[in-house]
Amino acid sequence: MKDWLNYFEHNRSHRPAIPWEREIEIAPHLRAPLIRSLQRFQVGESGEGSFLRRQAARTGDPNYEAAVVLFIKEEQEHARLMACILRKLNAPLLQRHWSDACFILLRKLLGLRHALLVLLMPEMIAKRYFRALRDGCPDSTLRAVFSQILQDEEGHLAFHVDYLQGAFASLCLPARAVLRGVWRILFRATCLAVIFDHRAILRGMAVSAAAFWWDCGLIFDEVAAGIFSSAPTPALGRLVPGFRGS
Ligand SMILES: [Fe+2]
Ligand SMILES: [Fe+2]
Repeated sequence: MKDWLNYFEHNRSHRPAIPWEREIEIAPHLRAPLIRSLQRFQVGESGEGSFLRRQAARTGDPNYEAAVVLFIKEEQEHARLMACILRKLNAPLLQRHWSDACFILLRKLLGLRHALLVLLMPEMIAKRYFRALRDGCPDSTLRAVFSQILQDEEGHLAFHVDYLQGAFASLCLPARAVLRGVWRILFRATCLAVIFDHRAILRGMAVSAAAFWWDCGLIFDEVAAGIFSSAPTPALGRLVPGFRGS
């Protein structure tokens, strides 16, 4: 976990500049869908992460605990970046959203390992979502923000896969299969909710519901293989290109 601490510290001190001085240019028909969609993702990433912090502290691994703190800070940085975009578009921030409340409640009912599986569901979807925004928005400020968030999200997935690989290592094969199956059903239900809720912006970014659904499934398969495969996989090197540990 020391490698992850180094990774997050390095990532924190190497943030590319965002051209905030520019006005954001967006096609009129995309403005309202983008605002509506970003408001929901923004509120989802703005939490304090106190539950996760407490759970990480219980592992007794100070490096993991410190890495989790930096992971939470990175999510809060995403919320800040999206809030900056919304302010530049003269749009208000949401205080809460039902989907976020659902995830928070579900996580609080679980221990660290299962709470991380819940947390990973929107993380996997975020990877496809921010790729769609990065590829579909020609504006340089928007692209800079979405590229950065996408890159960070790939790191988040690899970080959680790396921890969960070890955390579930002692689980027998049938239990893994059941857990993976239940997790997949919950993930697919979340995909459907996101596709429905964000359908206007996805259409605006030229990503069909079918393509989004399919790509999210591929991301899930890769992440689930990393966590539940009985053969250890080097999650860090595989999911974060160019990463160099300590
Ligand atoms: Fe994020
Ligand atoms: Fe994330």
